[in-house]
Amino acid sequence: NMDRKFFVGGNWKMNGDKATIDGICAFLSKGPINSDTDVVVAPPYCYLQYSKDKLPATVKVAAQNCYKEKEGAFTGEISPSMIKDVGGTWVITGHSERRHTMGETDEFVAEKTKFALDNGLGVIPCVGEKLEEREADQTMAVISRQMKALADKIKDWTHVVIAYEPVWAIGTGKTASPEQAQDIHEKIRDWLKKTVSADVAKKTRIIYGGSVKGSNAAELAKKPDIDGFLVGGASLKPEFIEIINARG
Ligand code: G3P
Repeated sequence: NMDRKFFVGGNWKMNGDKATIDGICAFLSKGPINSDTDVVVAPPYCYLQYSKDKLPATVKVAAQNCYKEKEGAFTGEISPSMIKDVGGTWVITGHSERRHTMGETDEFVAEKTKFALDNGLGVIPCVGEKLEEREADQTMAVISRQMKALADKIKDWTHVVIAYEPVWAIGTGKTASPEQAQDIHEKIRDWLKKTVSADVAKKTRIIYGGSVKGSNAAELAKKPDIDGFLVGGASLKPEFIEIINARG
């Protein structure tokens, strides 16, 4: 849908060092990057400032996570104000690796999302079902539960971009088909319409994540409710440019 600006995020996860980041910044600087697309990359915390300094100004920087307090005795955590202080303007919350490997709950993800929004960051909360949940026909039950926790806390959706990442498609090479992804994106939009408002449903970008590649991005991007991507592995490679420009 052309009313919503295309949004492509690169989630580097726990990958990269200064040398590989130099390479990524070089292909992003070379582009070309369609100016109708918001582009954000999420380096590991310790490379936020380094990446910010090397990236072209059009590419925004996100953290991969944050905490729900401004400062204090929270060893190992970082706050939204720290992210902003080193040039970050976005944060990813509730990535499935945080939910399922680190045990973050719906409630905790929602609290962090709210805190980051209240402190002036754009937020990319992630939702999505596991394979066994899909096979048990629980996909929308799981996503509604994750969305409900978020919607209970979010007052202003202007700076929220929802990422739908089916857990079975992450890093597996198994992409959701354009039809499967569109089906869930449409249902999430519908959920927003019923639960939040028609306006929020219409304006909020819902991006897809899970084995997006240069070779499958254009087909996915044609679907009316797919407003962009959150890319893992392929965001480390020059094909990320192809994904950024997938809408043509
Ligand atoms: O956040 C992006 C992600 O989880 C997808 O990873 O490697 O399957 O593109 P990947």
